[in-house]
Amino acid sequence: MILARRKIAYWLYEKYSFMKILMIFMILMSPLLFKMILIFFYRRHVEKKAKKDITVGFFHPNCNACTPQENVLWSAVKAIQTEYDNVQICIYTGDLEAKPHTILSNVESKFGIKLQPNIRFLYLRKRKWIRSFAYLGSMWVGCEALSLLKPHIMIDSMGYGFCNFIFKYCGRCTVINYVHNPLVSVDKLKTRYVIHSNNQYIITRRPAFSLGVSKGIAFLWGKIGRVADVVMVNSSWTKENILNIWNCPQKAHIVYPPIGLENLMKRADSCLDKKNQFRIMNASEFKPENNHELILRALNKARLKIKRNIMDEVRLVLINLSSEPCESYVQRLKEIVKQQDLEDYVKIYPQSMHSNRLEEELIKATFGIYAKVDDEFGSDLIAGLTTGQIMIVHASGAAKAELINTEDESRSGYLVKTVDDYAHALEEALHLSPADKRRMQKASRRIADQFSRFAFQKEFLKIIGPFLESKKKKLYNVACSYA
Ligand SMILES: *[C@@H]1O[C@H](CO)[C@@H](O)[C@H](O)[C@H]1NC(C)=O
Ligand SMILES: *[C@@H]1O[C@H](CO)[C@@H](O)[C@H](O)[C@H]1NC(C)=O
Ligand SMILES: *[C@@H]1O[C@H](CO)[C@@H](O)[C@H](O)[C@H]1NC(C)=O
Repeated sequence: MILARRKIAYWLYEKYSFMKILMIFMILMSPLLFKMILIFFYRRHVEKKAKKDITVGFFHPNCNACTPQENVLWSAVKAIQTEYDNVQICIYTGDLEAKPHTILSNVESKFGIKLQPNIRFLYLRKRKWIRSFAYLGSMWVGCEALSLLKPHIMIDSMGYGFCNFIFKYCGRCTVINYVHNPLVSVDKLKTRYVIHSNNQYIITRRPAFSLGVSKGIAFLWGKIGRVADVVMVNSSWTKENILNIWNCPQKAHIVYPPIGLENLMKRADSCLDKKNQFRIMNASEFKPENNHELILRALNKARLKIKRNIMDEVRLVLINLSSEPCESYVQRLKEIVKQQDLEDYVKIYPQSMHSNRLEEELIKATFGIYAKVDDEFGSDLIAGLTTGQIMIVHASGAAKAELINTEDESRSGYLVKTVDDYAHALEEALHLSPADKRRMQKASRRIADQFSRFAFQKEFLKIIGPFLESKKKKLYNVACSYA
């Protein structure tokens, strides 16, 4: 009886919060509507000046920052500049204090991308509203952007998605999104959810309020987002969420972002010959969820099955990438090593390492190993793959979804779960013939190559190309009919 009443209360509260979000949306929309109608009648002012130019706008209010999102932005701009000459690029940014030339020189120094300076910067004064009201505020900023200039193609490269409707119907633009992170993930729409910390699973119930709010945002975001012409996503996880919430299967494409490991890639080209054949490594934070203990136990288990002459050469190298003190954890690891009599085979580097030195270590190791469950996509792992490491990793998260290939022909590594699996994989990996090793190392390299800037630009152009071509044709026809 009490349970039923609680259930009803939960349900009611959830619906109430859902409605609340819709109400906020309505209230926000009413003044916005007027503005949107005005914008609909604005001219594109660039068209008059340079009729033949296509304008491509990048809606990226934080363009002067230095995160992976900006790497995507500037790589995309560069791709368009190299491939097309009659395209005017406009960046909508909220970095009011940053002058165009400082932004461009920052791009060069931070990302190593040299851009042609004929980029137009349009400054958004309302950037601070973007995150307000669960990102609904971004619609205002979108309106402001269009009132400055209406481009032919608008690319929302921060992936808010709430402006899509405005760009499409008031601006009459072709709308393209690049979504890094879904505003709401499908997990947040579930009543019960699992958290795991320290490799323990706990099932809990989401508070009704936050569930209702998430559902409200997902509802609106889905309805508004799906009017985009194309949406690019940065991973299969993001794609899954977009497909579920936006429900637009033909429009979503995975375009992997550039990871910014160009330097390592250059160095790594010659590194396959420099590897110590039986060196296994991991560089990560020293903390319980990274589960170094499991790796040590697995090595101990595998030891008896590994040929003596190989085992003598095996070195497992664990490197500290923590940002906080972790003495007790390291102490514990050392105890385990001692208990299991692994001192000859395991090397722990507790001091943090200079990046140059770390690269050396990456290049030296033939194998990478880790045991974190549901690991997010990490550039550490890509760094390992870049240097051609054969990976033995937990079968979950990004590794399982897209970073390790386990099909026979193109196998690049091992996806495993239990201590026994790890031990077995170690045994198999350490006994690989040199030819097999080489093949798998090359497979790893191929996976890492998908995250290069070159690969990103190729994929990006493949998607945006048809839109640019069709706009070009249209403009050409208009110009002819005037002549
Ligand atoms: C996608 O973007 C999110 C947010 O920036 C990031 O956490 C995730 O690692 C990215 N995935 C890939 C494959 O880069
Ligand atoms: C080391 O392990 C952690 C998780 O345990 C992982 O995130 C990281 O990518 C691994 N590092 C390398 C270089 O493989
Ligand atoms: C690991 O590195 C961090 C950051 O440099 C440091 O604070 C911590 O003390 C190191 N851990 C150990 C056990 O030395």
